Amino acid sequence: MTHAPMPTPNEESTQAGFAKIYAETNPPWDIGQPQPPFIAIADQIKGPLLDCGCGTGGTSVYFAKRGLAVTGIDFVAQAIALAQAHAQGNGVHVDFLVKDAMTLSTWDKRFVSIIDSGLYHIYEAAERRRYVDGLAHVIEPGGHLYLFAFAEGPSAPGGGLTRDDIAQDFAQGWEMEAIDYAPGEINPAFEHPEMLADLKMWFAIIRRTA
Ligand SMILES: C[S@@+](CC[C@H](N)C(=O)[O-])C[C@H]1O[C@@H](n2cnc3c(N)ncnc32)[C@H](O)[C@@H]1O
Repeated sequence: MTHAPMPTPNEESTQAGFAKIYAETNPPWDIGQPQPPFIAIADQIKGPLLDCGCGTGGTSVYFAKRGLAVTGIDFVAQAIALAQAHAQGNGVHVDFLVKDAMTLSTWDKRFVSIIDSGLYHIYEAAERRRYVDGLAHVIEPGGHLYLFAFAEGPSAPGGGLTRDDIAQDFAQGWEMEAIDYAPGEINPAFEHPEMLADLKMWFAIIRRTA
């Protein structure tokens, strides 16, 4: 039996579920660089930057190479080890940490920008709210969250999110500056591209107002 190509909410969305995917597959998201919408607006993204759920570090390293101070967190140690090697191979420093994104509310770090490329959409409503509270804690007032997440649809693991789901999660103390469907790339080595053929993604820019 093959297991799901991406953890679905409350099924494999655990540290162990992701560790298994990194150990046994070519993860579909692992493209070695940022997803296209982040590259398209790279000039807007300021440091210090938090890459939340950074995986093997392609996005973090890209922005470190642009001169930003970058911190990347992920709860899978193997992904962080690969990310550190990726930074070293590119001659840049990124503060990569094994850290659970659900613990942001007790962190003493602050960031002007936060990238979430594929973490937020993994979680169901109650966990997403807890995560958003943590984002609010670590982002500077006026700072920006750049969010790339599954849109609603049959190919989206867990069914994806509607525009309203995202708007509701960020209703208090945030302003949605932009949200639209956006192109995504899939790792060419991923074993089951047909499963994601009709996948739609959101790209949102959300400003912390409080
Ligand atoms: C879909 S992958 C995206 C990885 C990376 N952002 C990218 O674009 O290549 C989601 C990542 O979030 C990490 N993750 C999921 N839940 C997490 C949590 N609670 N704390 C930290 N990392 C988490 C997973 O280990 C995985 O690396």
